[in-house]
Amino acid sequence: MKKSKTSFFCQHCGYMSPKWLGKCPSCSGWNCFAEELVSQPDSGGRASMSFDGKPQPIEDISADEGERMLTGIAEIDRVLGGGIVDGSAILIGGEPGIGKSTLMLQVMKNIAVGGRKVLYVSGEESAHQIKLRSNRIGASARDLLVLVEVSLEKILDHVKKIEPAIVVIDSIQTVYSGDLMSAPGSVGQVREASSRLILSAKKNGIPVFLIGHVTPKVLEHMVDTVLYFEGDSGHAYRIIRSIKNRFGPTNEIGVFEMQDKGLKEVPNPSAFFLAERPQNAPGSVVVPSLEGTRPILVEIQALVSQSNLGMPRRTAIGVDHNRVSLLVAVLDRICGLHLGGSDIFINVAGGVRVEEPAVDLGVVAAMASSFLDRPVDPRTVILGEVGLTGEVRAVSQMDVRVKEAARLGFDKCILPKTNMASLTKTAKMEICAISSLKDLLENLF
Ligand code: TYD
Ligand code: MG
Repeated sequence: MKKSKTSFFCQHCGYMSPKWLGKCPSCSGWNCFAEELVSQPDSGGRASMSFDGKPQPIEDISADEGERMLTGIAEIDRVLGGGIVDGSAILIGGEPGIGKSTLMLQVMKNIAVGGRKVLYVSGEESAHQIKLRSNRIGASARDLLVLVEVSLEKILDHVKKIEPAIVVIDSIQTVYSGDLMSAPGSVGQVREASSRLILSAKKNGIPVFLIGHVTPKVLEHMVDTVLYFEGDSGHAYRIIRSIKNRFGPTNEIGVFEMQDKGLKEVPNPSAFFLAERPQNAPGSVVVPSLEGTRPILVEIQALVSQSNLGMPRRTAIGVDHNRVSLLVAVLDRICGLHLGGSDIFINVAGGVRVEEPAVDLGVVAAMASSFLDRPVDPRTVILGEVGLTGEVRAVSQMDVRVKEAARLGFDKCILPKTNMASLTKTAKMEICAISSLKDLLENLF
């Protein structure tokens, strides 16, 4: 009898090692290796894994993408780069309870109502539970087929038989292949199930959505598109963000609100995020940030208060912590605002996350405003990247940002001087161009 072979896999990134390791050499995670039985060489499943491809001149390959399938939910279609591409594999990650199943059921219903057969495979809920949810959100259609199954082989059989227009797997962690000995949900199983589902998607041109709880890095490499569902339980809004997209721009976001009848699109997110903004409060600044191709106004709040700790506290929620430290140092050296002995808290209101350096100037303005206890004019927006010598650097796509600010009734914009050359004039918007942090303080109040 053949001896079964085991290996150790990092449960975060899928790194394989013949021995147990305390620290993963690939993702640097600690204590994340688990032993898994790996498949036998004579297992049936892998043998059939092939595209049956032949080498061909690149000139003969059709570049025609085909028509994209629209989900009927504009926010999702935009995040996907204009709809779903035939045969693509899309991973949707996010914390449990964030609304992945709800969203996918809504998407599937929309496609089914359009007269196409869709298959929703669930290994997490019973058909009855899915029916209850579908009643709640009004997602019912004759062509929406529900399959409760966890066996990979059986799922693939059903897909072959039904030939649906699209398949959803909820969730990839529950699917398991009989070819592997390791437990359902282990990295080995998730990788095996994903690769075979993706292969089947590509061969048959049927797009597949894989829902994942925590998304192991290994999956992100395998799929065409990675969407991440974010938001926190304290807020009703949900953001779906494309982390990777082979068929469109990345970092594109779609905004939804979780209501009692499912997820509802938020077509005007700037107004949504600014709805509760305090007027004339020190420490509050509005920044037109860019998410993918879309400008969104966000409110950055800072609270600077005298610290009684030996090492003052620095907390940044929604912006990069390291950049805040850098900006505090620049404020100190260049502007003479000595924040060294203060506790500093930065928060992006509504729980949004903004990663781009274009928000630097807004963060600096918010800290200065709180420290000096003077409010910034509530109809002013501020943006620019800040360098270590206190210079204010240009940001990309200034025009769309300024237009969005004008649309929401802002009438003054403080921005980098270097952006002026490419800026088209927007009526009713007063532009204040600055080149260093010193200029900022002169123009801020
Ligand atoms: P769900 O889609 O099950 O999340 P996931 O699949 O990501 O784990 O969403 C569950 C949460 O959403 C749950 O806390 C209840 C809430 N919810 C609503 O608020 N309204 C609704 O119409 C539905 C269906 C769910
Ligand atoms: Mg779910």
